[in-house]
Amino acid sequence: MNRPIIALDFPNKQTIQQFLQLFPTDEALFVKVGMEIFYQEGPEIVRWLRSLGHDVFLDLKLHDIPNTVRSAMRNLAGLDIQLTNVHAAGGKEMMSQALLGLQEGTKENRTIPKLIAVTQLTSTSEEQMQHDQLMTCSLEESVLHYAKMTQEAGLAGVVCSALESRAIKEQTNQNFICLTPGIRPSNTNIGDQKRVVTPQQAKENGATYIVVGRPITQSANPYEAYVAIKNDWNGVN
Ligand code: C5P
Repeated sequence: MNRPIIALDFPNKQTIQQFLQLFPTDEALFVKVGMEIFYQEGPEIVRWLRSLGHDVFLDLKLHDIPNTVRSAMRNLAGLDIQLTNVHAAGGKEMMSQALLGLQEGTKENRTIPKLIAVTQLTSTSEEQMQHDQLMTCSLEESVLHYAKMTQEAGLAGVVCSALESRAIKEQTNQNFICLTPGIRPSNTNIGDQKRVVTPQQAKENGATYIVVGRPITQSANPYEAYVAIKNDWNGVN
């Protein structure tokens, strides 16, 4: 069964430890480590999660000059992660160099982490994009442009809204990864997310991975919530 990626949006290792204790010890999870926890605990948090048998999406959204991103990616690949990302706005050359860094840093007999790109952040409105980035195109045109550029640079896919994944796959190819946050099971609080879809709707729209945070982390019974979301995502009743 495909696993939803759980966003470990917690302040420190101790709270993650308490959270993971609520899951069966033999349940191998796919978790997302973001900036908050990475900058608090450092690379050790990733090594620890990997030692527990969990797959890791390291969501650090790198964006710098190509050479710096390549070196940073070389180091991140050494952590034996499964998935990581950059900002497409860093450009095609930066994305290709990021990929090279991941290849260089992957240890023998390990799989090269998949690399995806953030197009426009979902917190950016069309008005903000046009004003702040001095762009005249629509938000959708910009997202599709970045997705095509990401594909040309040789990356595996993009982070996007489940509402954009169908159009992105049409413009790239059906195997292009669309990793989508903003997932809410029906009948739950949507929090600060604005455009949300259910796991089942995300699947129908062609999402490859879903990232789910609060509906699991803040649930009274996180494991039960996780299983329900996983079942919905896999079309199991
Ligand atoms: O709690 P919730 O399910 O909204 O968490 C979604 C996760 O995905 C958070 O870690 C959030 O930072 C992240 N994310 C997002 N939208 C993006 C990119 C990342 O919500 N475009």
